[in-house]
Amino acid sequence: MKISIFGTGYVGLVSGACLAEIGHDVVCMDVDPVKIANLNVGVLPIWEPGLDVLVDRNFKDGRLRFSNDAAQAVAHGDVQFIAVGTPPDEDGSADLQYVLAVAQTIAMHMTNYKVVVNKSTVPVGTADKVSAAIGAVLAQRTGDVPAFDVVSNPEFLKEGAAVNDFLHPDRIVIGSASERAKALMADVYEPFMRNHDRTIHMDVRSAELTKYAANAMLATKISFMNEVANLAERLGADIEQVRKGIGSDPRIGYHFIYPGCGYGGSCFPKDVQALGRTASQIGYDTPLLDAVEAVNKRQKTTLFTKLANHFGGPTNLQGKTIAVWGLSFKPKTDDMREAPSRTLMEALWEAGAKVQAFDPVAMTETARIYPDHPLLTLSVDKYAALAGADALVICTEWQQFRAPDFDEMELRMPSKLIVDGRNLYQPAKMQAAGWNYLSVGRAAVTV
Ligand SMILES: NC(=O)c1ccc[n+]([C@@H]2O[C@H](COP(=O)([O-])OP(=O)(O)OC[C@H]3O[C@@H](n4cnc5c(N)ncnc54)[C@H](O)[C@@H]3O)[C@@H](O)[C@H]2O)c1
Repeated sequence: MKISIFGTGYVGLVSGACLAEIGHDVVCMDVDPVKIANLNVGVLPIWEPGLDVLVDRNFKDGRLRFSNDAAQAVAHGDVQFIAVGTPPDEDGSADLQYVLAVAQTIAMHMTNYKVVVNKSTVPVGTADKVSAAIGAVLAQRTGDVPAFDVVSNPEFLKEGAAVNDFLHPDRIVIGSASERAKALMADVYEPFMRNHDRTIHMDVRSAELTKYAANAMLATKISFMNEVANLAERLGADIEQVRKGIGSDPRIGYHFIYPGCGYGGSCFPKDVQALGRTASQIGYDTPLLDAVEAVNKRQKTTLFTKLANHFGGPTNLQGKTIAVWGLSFKPKTDDMREAPSRTLMEALWEAGAKVQAFDPVAMTETARIYPDHPLLTLSVDKYAALAGADALVICTEWQQFRAPDFDEMELRMPSKLIVDGRNLYQPAKMQAAGWNYLSVGRAAVTV
């Protein structure tokens, strides 16, 4: 089946590679000429486990092509996926300019029936806007104009496991009232569901809202646990014991109830915000969503606050050297959008502290975001980052940070102070080994 995808970011590139892997004939189109030129010589714009192999194989086999040529992309696909960014506008609502630009491009070049698929995360009502944008361009064309349908097909992949999520989806949500469009969408996804059909059909608006509801629910779980963790810390309880205690209830479950230093990434922060703005545009208050966002903002400052308190106030951080392990917003990705590490590092620089940072894959991205920052050193490995540091702060729970060589750490960092935003270690063991150890939702250990 011939498929075109607009946008070759985390969603577009993973979707394109996986659709090609299953046998479809895919053209990925992006307006960024550098991205396309790089992809055409095998250089990927993002780091995602398993993606390079898939892109390489399908590119060489000719099922996956990369292009800047919008007309060619529109001509190619029976199904046209829109997978461009929907960043927050000034008021926090989703900025639809890129989505609508693609809609207009498709309308300008289409000569036969197309299914236009919103895969970007877009507010309720966007399919209508995309339809209107296509209709407006078609209305200016002379002669017969082709028919089209707009479908909502939100994407649920997780960065760090995106390829696996796409190849083995737990659900495919299709929002459409058109039988013709639904039949084509079935052709797209059937090969991924040989075991059993996991398609959930619904109306367009419900599909659009489903994506926001899913992300808002996940963000709510995180903020809830962070709030309880902060309470536990102040009440002399241990959040890790509480976590197990509540997770054992199948109505709650163990998934996604880890306390930490706040959620980041390109989705939860902007989607919670955008859902709140959608509500306020129709005059409806969303106090729960507002609280989820506020709790998260506060949580992202918690590591800095713990560090500052330990040293007797933020002014005492002036001239200190702080090692930071983990820069991406979560493990197995190089995505630093809204990462808690950024909140921490920026607060440390503001206080006059130096940062020695290490991340297994996000170093290039860090250098791109903070080029030549005078208070930032990017270290070659996790131990090098500790050299002479006054403290280590852990922001991301990469596997390689879970069982480090504490003797090696002590040699590099005689200060023996760890602020752990991911609760990777046991406080009692840390105390026995003579470490000062501050984690989230558990009593601080100081020696
Ligand atoms: N990143 C995720 O984990 C994830 C998961 C599910 C859904 N989403 C949603 O998917 C959408 C895309 O997210 P992303 O993280 O892949 O974004 P991204 O920023 O990584 O990529 C977007 C790409 O679109 C390109 N683009 C912009 N305008 C274009 C145009 N007119 N024609 C062609 N290409 C154009 C950009 O150059 C960029 O390469 C967003 O709405 C996001 O909320 C993201």
